[in-house]
Amino acid sequence: MAVIIDGKAVSQRIREEIRQEADALTAKGIHPGLAVIIVGDDPASRIYVNNKKKACAQCGIHSEEFSLSADTTENELLELIHTLNARQDINGILCQLPLPRGFNEDVIINAIDPKKDVDAFHPGNVGGIMLNKYSFLPCTPAGVMELLKAVNTQIAGKRAVVVGRSNIVGKPMALLLLHADATVTICHSKTAGLTQICREADILVAAVGRANFITSDMIKPGAVVIDVGMNRDENGKLCGDVDFAAAEKVASALTPVPGGVGPMTITMLLKNTVTAAKNQIENAGARVARPVGI
Ligand code: GUN
Repeated sequence: MAVIIDGKAVSQRIREEIRQEADALTAKGIHPGLAVIIVGDDPASRIYVNNKKKACAQCGIHSEEFSLSADTTENELLELIHTLNARQDINGILCQLPLPRGFNEDVIINAIDPKKDVDAFHPGNVGGIMLNKYSFLPCTPAGVMELLKAVNTQIAGKRAVVVGRSNIVGKPMALLLLHADATVTICHSKTAGLTQICREADILVAAVGRANFITSDMIKPGAVVIDVGMNRDENGKLCGDVDFAAAEKVASALTPVPGGVGPMTITMLLKNTVTAAKNQIENAGARVARPVGI
């Protein structure tokens, strides 16, 4: 039977470290601050935003919510982002997605100062991940790497398969595994021979968005299986992309849904916010320290 990877416990341990870092910064007079923007009244977004604010409070991070009605114009939202970009007490800016119809999400993401882009969605930060030179990692793939580390998964030289090619999970996930020296395959809806490819994986990451998509015949015996999915089954119950009951009998380690990757995503957001605060202090210091005229 697989070891169940407890995302809540790993998350709690990392949050304690984040709290210590945030407290140390606060003691020096820099209280890390996150601005959370929500536009409209999407119920799922409301839950995510509330959870992010609660997690900030738990870790000693100041959070400020900016709740805008769905009829806000794109220019009004851009103005808010410009104001937050300029505020020294705000180190991270997050605009909860999806935005209501009529907003161009690319325009909004591009407007966030990359140094405050704690989601790592800005093209500048996305490029940094490609080059393995970055300040922030996107929260979900970074959380998956922490979970792999927590169960001492050997990554170098192993076969990793990522099912899903989204910009915020599948693609960066594949790059992080590649940077950790795995041999990586990305699969998607048009992949031929998906079952066979998945069965070759020592590390299988499912980020498809379909309940029970990964069945036990797609899992190599002894594989580590990470389930990024967040779906509702036919009874409305939260479930991942992996058929958990079947996978548990084949995998060596497996994340549950809920309680696996989910808590890690928010934890990595907190970590990025503290990193942003530290980087902004260093940059400010460098500017001050630079001799006049050079
Ligand atoms: N909507 C769903 N997940 C996310 C996330 O990680 N960041 C933002 N900004 N919006 C989301």
